Amino acid sequence: MKKNVLIPTLLLFAVFSIFSCNKRDTGQLPPGKGNLNLPPLDPALVQQGQQVFRFETFGDESFWTDVLHMNQVIESGVSPKTALAVGLKVDAAALPPAVVDAISKGQVDLDDPQTTLALLQLNAVVGIKGQVSQNQDGTLKLDRVGITCALCHSTVDNSFAPGIGNRLDAYPNRDLNPGLIISLSPALDATTKAIYASWGPGMYDPRFNHDGLSNPVVIPPAFGLYGLPKAIFTGDGDVQHEPAGPVAYWNRYVAVTQMHGHGYFADARLDNWVVDHRENDDLVTDKLPALQAYQYSISAPAAPAGSFDPSAAARGMVLFAGKAQCATCHSGPLFTDVIDGGKLHPQSASVALDKDYVKRSATKLWRVTPLKGIWQHPPYFHDGSAKTLADVVARYDQERGLKLSTSEKADLTEYLKSL
Ligand code: HEC
Ligand code: HEC
Repeated sequence: MKKNVLIPTLLLFAVFSIFSCNKRDTGQLPPGKGNLNLPPLDPALVQQGQQVFRFETFGDESFWTDVLHMNQVIESGVSPKTALAVGLKVDAAALPPAVVDAISKGQVDLDDPQTTLALLQLNAVVGIKGQVSQNQDGTLKLDRVGITCALCHSTVDNSFAPGIGNRLDAYPNRDLNPGLIISLSPALDATTKAIYASWGPGMYDPRFNHDGLSNPVVIPPAFGLYGLPKAIFTGDGDVQHEPAGPVAYWNRYVAVTQMHGHGYFADARLDNWVVDHRENDDLVTDKLPALQAYQYSISAPAAPAGSFDPSAAARGMVLFAGKAQCATCHSGPLFTDVIDGGKLHPQSASVALDKDYVKRSATKLWRVTPLKGIWQHPPYFHDGSAKTLADVVARYDQERGLKLSTSEKADLTEYLKSL
């Protein structure tokens, strides 16, 4: 892999350093306009990255199996119905035609955990990798289980049935209840279980096991990120802290500290947090360039035809850049001023209800969230405190005293739906 990754990595370096020392103020471009002139991604690297994103556990079975015993939890009590109810998704493309046929005819027992094991054997449960074998009596048993990035950052298009369809990688799985799933582990004490179980669908706290605080955030999309010099809500990820790139910074963070893959993470800004699961057993670092390239290859999905009113959206665009003052922060081609040399904002820049998450980050500042494809992933803000885009507009109107009329609010909402 090494040779293939070198050139794109160098190109990325070049791009990000151009961003950081470029005097031309890209943020002054009208929102959504302008060209970032990003170098093309290496298709072979992107292809490798897709495999990593979907199927790589980085050896995290040693946590999900040996520590949490999730294999026993699934084997003894997780039927396909239960799995779908906690937001897990099934990749219809991985199912052989005979299985699809049997499911359609109602001949498959969706209340039986054995069916879940059969699906795992087919590698059909999105984001979960299982090693399945047979007992003497022919029943299936789950020997090892681990998780991949796709667990939280992929969903399906429901083309076959609710929760069963074609993969939509990088779309956040806002049905998934990761906290509830983890809380089922017999290895946790009652207090810890209760905290995990309290987070709810689409939410996860990627800092709980570091600082002990519980304050989950929405699982964000992993699409539309190519060109941003900083990653995550608080802009912790950048090339200064991860040579492979901003998104790779956070991918390493999650792979090592949350998924418990074998590898290494350190950041002096987070109370010198160092996590080193296995000395000389780094299954993460060499996969980061491909993994990042795959995420960069996925652009934000366009708003479906007919999902917004074009003339109202056109009026809303004028408000966005004018009276509503949105473009002072959501500027430039990706609707964020972070492309101006990595600009971040103080705590007061967020109108979310939660005011505390930012303090737990490395930067203690906010990155202005890019808005392309925003129609796809309600609820909004890091704490999910705005259920709809209309709620977003109402919140800004109130918090910032914008004095938008009812029809102006409606127009601005239509514009947001169109991005
Ligand atoms: C248990 C759920 C979970 C898993 C598994 C997970 N993530 Fe995330 N991911 C999150 C959450 C929550 C955030 C938001 C953190 C923040 O911004 O503070 C996030 C943030 C991100 C972002 C930042 C997007 C942006 O706007 O800059 C990317 C990209 C990403 N994850 C990719 C990945 C990849 C790749 C993997 C596998 C190595 C992975 N995630 C595994 C929950 C998860
Ligand atoms: C002072 C800078 C600033 C201004 C002005 C601003 N925003 Fe934001 N915006 C942010 C920041 C920072 C976030 C992330 C806050 C969070 O998640 O807590 C954000 C988040 C959002 C989100 C949620 C994105 C997501 O994925 O959840 C939307 C939608 C949004 N802004 C739209 C607007 C609109 C519409 C306006 C004008 C009425 C506006 N913003 C004005 C800084 C700004």
